[in-house]
Amino acid sequence: MQPTSDVNQRVARISAHLHPPSFQMGETSGLRAANCRGKAGKHGFKVAILGAAGGIGQPLALLMKINPLVSVLHLYDVVNTPGVAADISHMDTGAVVRGFLGPQQLDNALSGMDLVIIPAGVPRKPGMTRDDLFKINAGIVKTICEGIARCCPNAIVNLISNPVNSTVPIAAEVFKQAGTFDPKRLLGVTMLDVVRANTFVAEVLGLDPREVDVPVVGGHSGVTILPLLSQVKPPSSFTLKEIDSLTDRIQNGGTEVVEAKAGTGSATLSMAYAAVKFADACLRGLRGDLGVVECAFVASTVTELPFFASKVRLGRSGAEEIYPLGPLNEYESAGLEKAKKELSASIQKGVSFIRK
Ligand SMILES: NC(=O)c1ccc[n+]([C@@H]2O[C@H](COP(=O)([O-])OP(=O)(O)OC[C@H]3O[C@@H](n4cnc5c(N)ncnc54)[C@H](O)[C@@H]3O)[C@@H](O)[C@H]2O)c1
Repeated sequence: MQPTSDVNQRVARISAHLHPPSFQMGETSGLRAANCRGKAGKHGFKVAILGAAGGIGQPLALLMKINPLVSVLHLYDVVNTPGVAADISHMDTGAVVRGFLGPQQLDNALSGMDLVIIPAGVPRKPGMTRDDLFKINAGIVKTICEGIARCCPNAIVNLISNPVNSTVPIAAEVFKQAGTFDPKRLLGVTMLDVVRANTFVAEVLGLDPREVDVPVVGGHSGVTILPLLSQVKPPSSFTLKEIDSLTDRIQNGGTEVVEAKAGTGSATLSMAYAAVKFADACLRGLRGDLGVVECAFVASTVTELPFFASKVRLGRSGAEEIYPLGPLNEYESAGLEKAKKELSASIQKGVSFIRK
C-alpha cells in the first residue's frame, strides 16, 4: 500500500490542470516545483522561454519540449501562456512544462534556470528596419534582464529580440549595473543568418545544406551581417557576381520573409529552428561536450568594437573562446569596414539607453 500522502500527491499531479490560473507549479497550486519529477526521470537542464506565446516562441517551445537535454521548460509571456503551456505539456517527451503569465510571475519563471531564451518583443512589418523596433523592444529586454539578474544570474542568456545589435549591449549594461555581468554567458542569437547562408550557398553549389558551413560575422542587421564566403566549408570558389548576390540575399533574408508575410510578422519558423539549433549547442556546451562551435554576437576583442559576432566555442561556462575572423579577402575587408560603422552606432544606442 502506498502512503496516503503519496497518493494525494499523485492525484494532485493528475488534476493540476483543473486549477488555472495557478496552472504552473508554485506556492499556490498545492504542487511544489521541488516535488515535480522529470517525466523521463533523468537529469537535464532547466530552460525558460520568454515571449513563449509569440510567433517564434510557440514553435520554439515545441522544439525545446522535444529536446532530450531539457528536463524543465518554463514558458513565460504577458499573454496566452496558460494555453500554450497546457498544449505543449501534453507532448509525451521528457521535459516538464510550466506556464507563467504576466510580470508578477516573471521571477518564478526565471528562478533556477540554466538557459534563458528571449524572443519577447514586437517583430518587423514591411518597410521597417530592425532599428525601428528599438523603442519598444529595448524596454522589454531591460525588464527581462533585470529579472534574470535577480533570479538566475548564472544562466546562459540567448537573446533573440531585435535589434540584436542594440539589445545585447542593453542586456550587458543591465547586468553590469546589477553586478552580475559575465560576458561568456550573454549571447546574441545570429544563428538564423548562418542557417540562411548555409541554405543559399548550398543551393548555388548543388549540395545538401547540412554539408555546408558558412561563417557569418559582424552583427544581425543589413550590412552588419557579413558572410565569409572565402571560408565556406567544403572549400568552394564563387564568381564576383555570385558573391554579390549571395551576400545581398543573406543580408536581406529577413526582409524577404517580412515582405512575403505582408504585414503579419517576420521569420518565426526558421527562427525557431535556428534558436533551437543554437540553444542545443549551448546545452551541449554546458554538459561538457568538446568542440561545440557556433557563431554568436558576444562581448569581443576580435575588432575594436565592444561586441561582435564571430565563431565561439561553447562550454560549461558559456562562450569560452572567441575565434578571430581569419584571413579576409578584399571584398570581405570592405564589407567589414561598412559593418563596423553601422554596428558601432547600434551598440552605442543600446548602451546610452541604459546609461542615459
Ligand atoms: N535574432 C533573430 O535572428 C530574429 C529573427 C526573427 C525575429 N526576431 C525578433 O524576435 C522578436 C519576436 O518575434 P515574433 O515574430 O515572435 O513576435 P511576436 O509578436 O509574434 O511574439 C512576441 C511575443 O513577445 C511577447 N511579449 C511582449 N512583451 C513581453 C514582455 N515584456 N515579456 C515577455 N513577453 C513579451 C508578446 O506577447 C508575444 O507573444 C522580435 O523582436 C523579432 O524582431 C529575431
